Amino acid sequence: MPHDTFTFIDNRDNTRYDYPILTGKRGPSVVDIRSFFKDTGMFTYDPGFTSTASCKSTITFIDGAKGELRYRGIPIEELATKHSYLETCYLLLNETLPNAEQLADFDLELRHRAFLHEGLLNLFHAFPDNAHPMATLSAATTALASFYDTHLEINDEAEYQEMARRIIAKIPTIAAYAYRHSLGIPFIYPDVDLSFTENFLTMMRAYPGGKMHRTIEGEAKIRDVEIRALDTIFTLHADHEQNASTTVVRGVASTGAHPYVAIASGIAALWGRAHGGANESVIAQLEMIGSVDNVETYIAKAKDPNDPFRLMGFGHRVYKNFDPRARILKELQDELREELGLDTELMAIARRIEEIALSDDYFISRKLYPNIDFYTGVILTALKIPKSMFTPIFVIGRTVGWVTQWIEFKKDTASKIARPRQLYIGD
Ligand code: SDX
Repeated sequence: MPHDTFTFIDNRDNTRYDYPILTGKRGPSVVDIRSFFKDTGMFTYDPGFTSTASCKSTITFIDGAKGELRYRGIPIEELATKHSYLETCYLLLNETLPNAEQLADFDLELRHRAFLHEGLLNLFHAFPDNAHPMATLSAATTALASFYDTHLEINDEAEYQEMARRIIAKIPTIAAYAYRHSLGIPFIYPDVDLSFTENFLTMMRAYPGGKMHRTIEGEAKIRDVEIRALDTIFTLHADHEQNASTTVVRGVASTGAHPYVAIASGIAALWGRAHGGANESVIAQLEMIGSVDNVETYIAKAKDPNDPFRLMGFGHRVYKNFDPRARILKELQDELREELGLDTELMAIARRIEEIALSDDYFISRKLYPNIDFYTGVILTALKIPKSMFTPIFVIGRTVGWVTQWIEFKKDTASKIARPRQLYIGD
């Protein structure tokens, strides 16, 4: 029997089934069980896919035990501290970091593609002021498919790149317009003289009418430190292997639907508070806890199996040590505390939760640690970004990951329509 095979034995009749073990560049190997049903007449059972690899990928690698995250092999710590978000986008899409000329071309193209077709603006007015921006973001992204129906059939690399750069450039504009609509104030159009991240903050916060003289909060202009902080947050959110929303994007890709409706489906999936919606819930939870003195009460609720209360921003399917993104954000909080005037009361509550949870057996035994969402909220609040816009910020960062994963799925000759089976327990 060849060495790299895995044998199942059905003890009911002692039949042996041998399957190849496939080994990747990093991380766990896999047992290739694609013929398991044909061979055995049985399905494997894995709700939530806790032990299932859905694809081969070269984009992002996570080691949950080591707290390791790499985009195209480069550690997240290096990308978040030495490179811009746009460099990270280029890396994910093109497998290498850009040189100065490639970066300049990429940057300029995104600036020009940031504008939305005027017809799309009517969609925003169909929503009530109190509509959550994630609803508008998902709807407007679906609508984009109608404006770019040529992307339904993509035949060459140039069009893959055009489709990807278009959606990466337009998502921030859609997010900013959704916010401005919720305030009932005029949209600020993209400004090709501004960088990706400054442009988004300006579209969000510029005073109605004319150039950036005053923000709607009254500041003279958006500061470099704010731009740098948000750019780092975008980088930390850029991709994350086969998480729930990426699995949805690949699932929609597998039916042959338009790439932008796949991204819109990813936005919908990310909205859930168990996933990307957690960042908004973390701040709401810290505000609800209200004081460091109340933390112990809420920790007890989180541990109580009969209480549905969960500690938002804690736990992760993969990271069973620490989320490296959370560690970077915690350092960023300390670095920006003074410059950004971070809400030290909220930070103190977060730190107290972390201090208690990390020494409590309930969390230690379940390997529950702060995840990326636990820290972003305090920084985003200091950037004058309202809670309702936290998950749209996650969408802006993650769109490059979704579209890169979509392209990889399309190019993978092993890709098939997603169609799992079931254990039928009915009638
Ligand atoms: C993101 O997948 C990704 O990569 C996602 C993400 C990305 O970049 O794409 O990293 C972004 O979504 C981060 C996660 C944000 N979500 C939250 O912070 C919400 C709170 N966390 C949980 O809902 C939960 O931890 C999950 C959803 C994140 C992970 O769920 P799992 O892996 O399915 O774990 P589980 O629900 O089976 O929990 C295992 C145990 C259970 O206890 P027991 O039944 O064994 O007694 O841990 C408990 C859970 O009750 N538990 C928690 C808890 N998280 C898990 N108890 C209290 N508070 C929590 N937050």
